[in-house]
Amino acid sequence: MLGLKLLTDPRWANIAEGNLEEILTDHAWCEQKAATNAITIITYNSEYEDLVTTMLEIAIEELEHFRMVHEIIKERGYSLGRQRKDDYVNQLFKFMKKDGSRNDAFIDNLLFAAMIEARSCERFRVLSENIKDKSLADFYRELMISEASHYTTFIKFAKKYSEKTDVDKRWKEWLDFEGQLIQNYGKNETVHG
Ligand SMILES: [Fe+2]
Ligand SMILES: [Fe+2]
Repeated sequence: MLGLKLLTDPRWANIAEGNLEEILTDHAWCEQKAATNAITIITYNSEYEDLVTTMLEIAIEELEHFRMVHEIIKERGYSLGRQRKDDYVNQLFKFMKKDGSRNDAFIDNLLFAAMIEARSCERFRVLSENIKDKSLADFYRELMISEASHYTTFIKFAKKYSEKTDVDKRWKEWLDFEGQLIQNYGKNETVHG
């Protein structure tokens, strides 16, 4: 699925379902970060009109996801907790190239975003297929489709705007790195935990 090297153990979904307030809070903030990242990409790469147009659409969609998760939190009588640390994303952030040319950094920022979309999509699939709560399962199925399309979009722009980076080769490096990294997770009730 999406080239991921390691699939999540479905038992993680039971851990998540055991603490819905926690997973929903973490998830809400994941959507906020996805919106913020799309805006950051615009900030640094405003000369690409089609990229700006699409990143604006993604930012709005991610904010809509944030709103939807927040509505579920309220409906169930939970409260939106403080933003959780996302150690997994922090490790991916460290892997992202920040030196080299401006274009190298831009392309790797797109691949960083694609990587998070791919794993989030996979985690949403695991939730949708394994949790007993039917309405949440349906919600996660819907989001899974949306995040899969974001993943495709980020890869597409990386290929379109890469000047020197061999995107297929670099994407394989991302998948290998992530495949090792994810072995440390799958034990906590957070989206990437
Ligand atoms: Fe999203
Ligand atoms: Fe997304």
